[in-house]
Amino acid sequence: MNSRLEQTTSIWMQLGVISSPASLSKDVVTDVCVVGAGIAGMTTAYLLLREGKSVVVLDDGPIGGGQTQRTTAHLTNAIDDRYINIEDWHGYEGMRMAAESHTAAIDRIEAIVNDKKIECEFERLDGYLLDSSGESLEILQRELLAARRAGLSQIELIPHCPSPGFNTVPCLRFPRQGQFHPLKYLAGLKQAIQRMGGLIFTQTRVEKIESGPPAIVHAYLGTTVTAHSVVVATNSPFNDFVTIHTKQAAYISYVLGFEVPKGSVTKALYWDTESPYHYVRLQALPESESNGELLIVGGEDHKTGQANDADDRYRRIEEWTRKRFPASGKILYRWSGQVLETIDGLAFIGRNPLDGPNVYIATGDSGQGMTHGTIAGILLTDLILERPNPWSTLYDPSRKTLRAAGRYLQENLNVAAQYTTWMTGGDVDSTQSIAPGTGAIVRAGLSKVAAYRDDRGVLHQCSAVCPHLGCIVEWNRNESTWDCPCHGSRFDKQGHLLCGPANSDLESIATPSEIGSIVAAE
Ligand SMILES: Cc1cc2nc3c(=O)[nH]c(=O)nc-3n(C[C@H](O)[C@H](O)[C@H](O)COP(=O)(O)OP(=O)(O)OC[C@H]3O[C@@H](n4cnc5c(N)ncnc54)[C@H](O)[C@@H]3O)c2cc1C
Ligand code: FES
Repeated sequence: MNSRLEQTTSIWMQLGVISSPASLSKDVVTDVCVVGAGIAGMTTAYLLLREGKSVVVLDDGPIGGGQTQRTTAHLTNAIDDRYINIEDWHGYEGMRMAAESHTAAIDRIEAIVNDKKIECEFERLDGYLLDSSGESLEILQRELLAARRAGLSQIELIPHCPSPGFNTVPCLRFPRQGQFHPLKYLAGLKQAIQRMGGLIFTQTRVEKIESGPPAIVHAYLGTTVTAHSVVVATNSPFNDFVTIHTKQAAYISYVLGFEVPKGSVTKALYWDTESPYHYVRLQALPESESNGELLIVGGEDHKTGQANDADDRYRRIEEWTRKRFPASGKILYRWSGQVLETIDGLAFIGRNPLDGPNVYIATGDSGQGMTHGTIAGILLTDLILERPNPWSTLYDPSRKTLRAAGRYLQENLNVAAQYTTWMTGGDVDSTQSIAPGTGAIVRAGLSKVAAYRDDRGVLHQCSAVCPHLGCIVEWNRNESTWDCPCHGSRFDKQGHLLCGPANSDLESIATPSEIGSIVAAE
């Protein structure tokens, strides 16, 4: 899939598309087939090749065309869901391994960058968890103790955060975090993979996987890859129809990039304790573009398909930023993307439940897909080579986290509630009231239609029923996409699949006519 078909673009996408190999035009046999060329798939492919395995990577879009090009690329062992909660859900040993694995992931990225001389602006820097509201000192104190118990002994509570807008608030300092340019990193991995004999095929959507053994991976093009093992690193797995999607939820997150004078903001990563929280970093701008640098600020997350007020959310991020970073100038970038939050704060990496033992998944980034994607590379390599790995139980996709049962119930009640939109009216009474360049849901008898009018006034209609499990999609004005409020499948304005768990387009209506329908929006 290619998230370039969405309306907004991130700073990383200015790099252009990573030159992508051709599609899979004939059948191939390999040790491991990796589906998905984002950070998780590319890291897994690279590490398996280093172990002498033959590897084929398939991707529906270009390399890095999924959420990896919409990230903000903080590399952290400061867990988004907080060590306090990780200890509650996974116990002391689980918390210790979460810290160990995220630390190892940053170390591994650094080692790959140095080893392969990848010019991706990787650097180590401090991260600060801030009490920006002035009301959560106790949370910081508890988090400090939990993180130290987890083995991160160098974390400290300091009374004043080093950035001017924050210098009156206390914060936790996490040393040796990291940041990089995610697409430059993937371009480097691509070169390394190809040099080791790995094959990458893009514009190749995988339709289904038979686990075998050997496994047969079927592309929509009609070609196949026969493999001993298959890794599905498609961000949201299309080969796990239900199980995993009851344990994770899709959220849209928003990002603004402000021009700031060089040196006006202390270079570091910043996160606050609000819910949803804000995340901040700096990024160099090309000298041809600006003398300053870019302050990248994200936040204002909401469940995918369950809000359509991006302008308000961007405005709130802007207000928050200008108050705390007074040097913030012109807004040069705005974009959004999707994260997958698991009920217990950690990714699902390992054997796909209810599938053959040779089919693996990596999903549930929990807002930390750079490190979770790298952990996936390390862990899946061990599992495929049948080597013991101490993290395998912690990240096992089949795990049942009893202490997160409340969150499980809450998420699934929320999903069940989305099916009631089958009974409601459309967003508009009639397709005639859809302005050029916008979309709306219109009721058509017992069903619903996703109708989009292009800039020339031509109407495009498809079924509004998500091919995953039948929820009704919603129009996303910010990205001009159709988003499913149940498990986060997304489609471009004409109904073509952007991301799963669905694995096919919205059903098109061959000869659309204007619907003069009847039922008003509720
Ligand atoms: C706004 C935002 C900010 C973020 N900030 C951070 C951060 O600071 N730090 C951090 O660690 N994480 C962050 N994340 C999360 C992180 O970016 C993602 O979790 C990560 O990029 C996901 O990588 P991936 O390889 O799992 O998936 P993707 O990059 O989405 O790659 C999946 C690939 O699979 C392909 N694919 C899908 N289905 C098929 C199919 N059927 N056949 C073939 N190919 C298929 C897609 O085309 C895609 O290229 C952020 C995310 C967002 C949106
Ligand atoms: S993503 Fe599951 S029903 Fe749409």
